[in-house]
Amino acid sequence: MFDQASIEKFEQIATPFYYYDMELLGHTVDTLADLARKYDVNVHYAVKANVEKRILETVSSRGIGADCVSGNEVRRALECGFPADRTVFAGVGKSDREIYEAMNAGIEAFNCESLHEIYVINAMAAAFGLRARVAARINPNIDAHTHQYVTTGLFENKFGIAHHEFDTLAELLGRCGNIDFTGLHFHIGSQITEVGSVFALEAERVGEIVTYFEDKGLHVGSVDFGGGLGVDYEAPDASPVAPFETWFRTITGSYCRRPGQSLHFEPGRSVVAQCGTLVTRVLFVKSGETKNFLILDAGMNDLIRPALYGAYHKIENLSSCFRKGFSEMQAYDVVGPVCESSDVWGQGRLLPLSVRGDLMAIRSAGAYGQVMASRYNLRDFAPAVFSDELDSAPCYTDYFSMPASHPERSRGYVD
Ligand code: LLP
Repeated sequence: MFDQASIEKFEQIATPFYYYDMELLGHTVDTLADLARKYDVNVHYAVKANVEKRILETVSSRGIGADCVSGNEVRRALECGFPADRTVFAGVGKSDREIYEAMNAGIEAFNCESLHEIYVINAMAAAFGLRARVAARINPNIDAHTHQYVTTGLFENKFGIAHHEFDTLAELLGRCGNIDFTGLHFHIGSQITEVGSVFALEAERVGEIVTYFEDKGLHVGSVDFGGGLGVDYEAPDASPVAPFETWFRTITGSYCRRPGQSLHFEPGRSVVAQCGTLVTRVLFVKSGETKNFLILDAGMNDLIRPALYGAYHKIENLSSCFRKGFSEMQAYDVVGPVCESSDVWGQGRLLPLSVRGDLMAIRSAGAYGQVMASRYNLRDFAPAVFSDELDSAPCYTDYFSMPASHPERSRGYVD
């Protein structure tokens, strides 16, 4: 994945940083846009997965729309080239200011998650003399077979409008004079790997719900199946592009599209996960009572997925590629510097013998990495470095941002 020239350049940059392979991103987005044309579906990138401007500009340049969940995301999407009429706004708790600004910008639709929200949007549209397009997000009660924290389509979850409110919803939409009903929206969860079975079930359930509302006299002009397509965290090089075609084929094959109806998808993770890597360095090697610890300079504040979901990210030692001769393998608990026992990158990972200053790659970090970073322990945010700007990436400027492997800095270990 990384060539020698890139790794040599990484050596000059203060770690940790997020590295984005813009060639892979471009290829992923081109593939997605081509498949969207082939299957005659609309794609809205779920901005929450990564909000870096260069990334958003790359995605918007291919004619893909945006799926946002906050007023700031809507604003950022518009700034980065997504047209308002291809931008949707979901989320269970939109503030009045967020609603007003998005309505004023003329977004494609609010994906409304409660009857109360529809009522408020209608009232605000009347008060400001505007109109709003509204889709209803429905909770279809489908198990996405993924981590409970990223399951969104079960009755126990806070998302979407529940079945027992369907009749009231149809009646409310008939009464709201300042909104235009566009269709139905769904999203059942994230990192879904059982693509064939789970999405086929979603498509069938969606078909039943669409029929229900049509029988109530509503015109369902658009159906949005949400995002959720999983990526291969175990083997990012073998599967750099997610199985978009299987996803589109499964859903369009299991759902009976009505004449003139538009179908929509909202991938987030599958667009950006594989192009991102968190590049970090070994600070210390420590021999514990029962295991060896590799302590990195990136921690859970930089990428919280392992600590929060027990998520797996592949870890590679980049420096070891260029060491001469046989590299002995060693099992390590790879950990970060944050003062929490959950700040662990991986337990018992088999890696080449690693030493202070080695560059390490935490792979598949492009989605829900930088966006979920915090300054816990008052640590700095890891900056973004883009592959096509590598030559102008900021190099280290002082002793402390210098890699520990630099000859001017004590390596502090015995070879
Ligand atoms: N549409 C809606 C309404 C969503 O809530 C989400 C994600 C997506 C689309 C995009 O889903 P994707 O294609 O990325 O699976 N932080 C978690 C993931 C949270 C996903 C939240 N909603 C993680 O790191 O795994």
